[in-house]
Amino acid sequence: MSDSYIQGLFADRLGGANFGKEDKIYKFEKIKRAKRAALAANPGAEMIDMGVGEPDWMADKLVVDELSAQAARPENRGYTDNGIAEFKTAACAYMEKIYGVKGLDPAKHVNHAIGSKPALAMIPAVFVNPGDAVLMTVPGYPVMGTHTSYYGGEVFNMPLKRENNFLPELEAVPESVLGKAKMLYLNYPNNPTGAMAPAKFFDKVVAFAKKHKLVVVQDAAYGALVYGQKPLSFLSVDGGMEVGVEIHSLSKAFNMTGWRLAFVVGNQLVVSGFAHVKDNCDSGQFGAIQKAGIVALNNPAITERTVAKYERRLKAMVAALKDVGFDSRVPGGTFYLFVPAPKGIKGGPKFSNAEECSQFLIKEKLISTVPEDMVGNYLRFSSTFEAKDEADEKRVLNLLAKRLKEVGFEF
Ligand SMILES: Cc1ncc(COP(=O)(O)O)c(C=O)c1O
Repeated sequence: MSDSYIQGLFADRLGGANFGKEDKIYKFEKIKRAKRAALAANPGAEMIDMGVGEPDWMADKLVVDELSAQAARPENRGYTDNGIAEFKTAACAYMEKIYGVKGLDPAKHVNHAIGSKPALAMIPAVFVNPGDAVLMTVPGYPVMGTHTSYYGGEVFNMPLKRENNFLPELEAVPESVLGKAKMLYLNYPNNPTGAMAPAKFFDKVVAFAKKHKLVVVQDAAYGALVYGQKPLSFLSVDGGMEVGVEIHSLSKAFNMTGWRLAFVVGNQLVVSGFAHVKDNCDSGQFGAIQKAGIVALNNPAITERTVAKYERRLKAMVAALKDVGFDSRVPGGTFYLFVPAPKGIKGGPKFSNAEECSQFLIKEKLISTVPEDMVGNYLRFSSTFEAKDEADEKRVLNLLAKRLKEVGFEF
């Protein structure tokens, strides 16, 4: 295959003629391979999969029934382009009800997207010229940075450190970068750290954005999944609407990852730029899915039930991890626990990073996590593991506690 002339045609952004030839194995592939090997070595054993980044529940019956009814209607058969008006109206009502964001005009301030991932992939096309810089946070969801690079832009990564509550140090961005920066990406509640941003931080971001003329893109994919506090929108702080947009997704809050439905909301100019690019990329999500999405947005009790489940699980996971020495606490939001990785096993192997620990846990204890070694060494445990019901959930959590206790971690 690789002697095809096509091999020589790949764009430089994909590595040019070397595309596909790199032998580096990426993190998620390593996890997959380790899982397969561990299951092959322990036939019939149960893998406790806390590596997944998507809900274990399916969409609510109300939402599924609406899709089924709407899918049969002839008026929903066609392209929806930049989306149906009813979905925009429901999105604005949702922002007011859940986040207290008032005064949104469905015709100006919101546009749907086929998931927040494609929205993040498209936004750089709105603003990035070659040589422009975009500020991203690491560890984090890299999509907006990847597409920034595709357009010849420069990505400046701001580290998220535990000692700063996983908030970026805006004042540490060099003047030379700020001079060419056009966008700032934030993601709160944050994947993978589980951190929430307080309103005070968002105030600081607004002032920073105005001072340096930046467009803020706040990725709220985990928006309403918060614990012990109210959901907070960047658009609810003074000036938020003047400097940026927030991206909300139905994937996690309504257990609808595969359905592909999200919306970009906020500053009118940013939304119109996004709508223009989107209109040149796709022809809109299926109208029946948007209509089912309206039912979801109108039923926040779905999110409340989901939050209650994750909170119950996260508390039990925190207890099990603390019991064996992990420095673990219930996160502000998301469904992840982010904990410093152990340094090794008492009287056993030492780990030079979180990836080695994660591989050990998969192979020796059949517990799958996601390692994070970009800034410090952490393990991400997700509370979205599979369980048939609440009794089964307890069984899985007891099994987790038992397997962790057998190890003898060294920190
Ligand atoms: C931080 C973050 N943003 C965006 C997404 C994408 O979500 P969607 O399903 O809306 O594309 C994810 C998915 O894991 C995520 O973790």
